[in-house]
Amino acid sequence: MIIKSAKYLISSPDFQQCPKPDRPEYAFIGRSNVGKSSLINMLVDNQKLAKTSGTPGKTQLINHFEVESLPDKHVPGKTQTTPWYLVDLPGYGFAKVSQSQRKQWETMIENYLRKRENLVNIFVLIDSRHAPQKVDLDFINQLGAWELPFCIVFTKADKESQKEVSKNVKAFLDAMRKTWQFLPQSFVTSAIKKMGRDKILLFIDQCNTA
Ligand code: GTP
Ligand code: MG
Repeated sequence: MIIKSAKYLISSPDFQQCPKPDRPEYAFIGRSNVGKSSLINMLVDNQKLAKTSGTPGKTQLINHFEVESLPDKHVPGKTQTTPWYLVDLPGYGFAKVSQSQRKQWETMIENYLRKRENLVNIFVLIDSRHAPQKVDLDFINQLGAWELPFCIVFTKADKESQKEVSKNVKAFLDAMRKTWQFLPQSFVTSAIKKMGRDKILLFIDQCNTA
């Protein structure tokens, strides 16, 4: 897939204020600081599009980005661009939030994920540097209970050796096998090295044209 353009559209406090659900939408979610905004920027090749930060809790609203893309084998001047939405969501598991803020997050996210009718896929980001975390497994099991489609994206693969990353990826997928009969598609990525970009864009392209 070739990204033709990507622009910021709107930040919404709840799903009802999101843009009209008239094109395919892909959401990125995961623990605070896992690299959601960085991954979005890597996918569209614009480091300044989604705001990133070393401080957890940077993204607080539902952020819509409008992307226009072409398939890899397009005919110049003939192939129509496909418009779709990328959504950057606030992270979970951030220790420094009050009980009421956490509840607010849960309600906003549950409503968005379950009611957004054009949501094609949820990318759940997992930090490849760590052993399986309960908060991630609980979130994934919740998606399962809601019967929502998702993929796993392991992030920050440049930060550890390949051996360590493979060990953590395997441990996470093994932990999922305890409750899941079939595993979803997964990707190993690095926003710094642009690792995993082509595979995720191909996945989105295939969903867009399915
Ligand atoms: P919140 O919006 O606060 O939930 O965070 P987020 O998940 O959007 O994370 P963000 O993209 O802001 O990245 C958090 C920190 O991790 C930043 O300092 C990024 O530069 C760094 N980071 C993100 N992805 C990568 C990566 O692939 N490799 C490395 N080395 N650092 C990364
Ligand atoms: Mg963010």
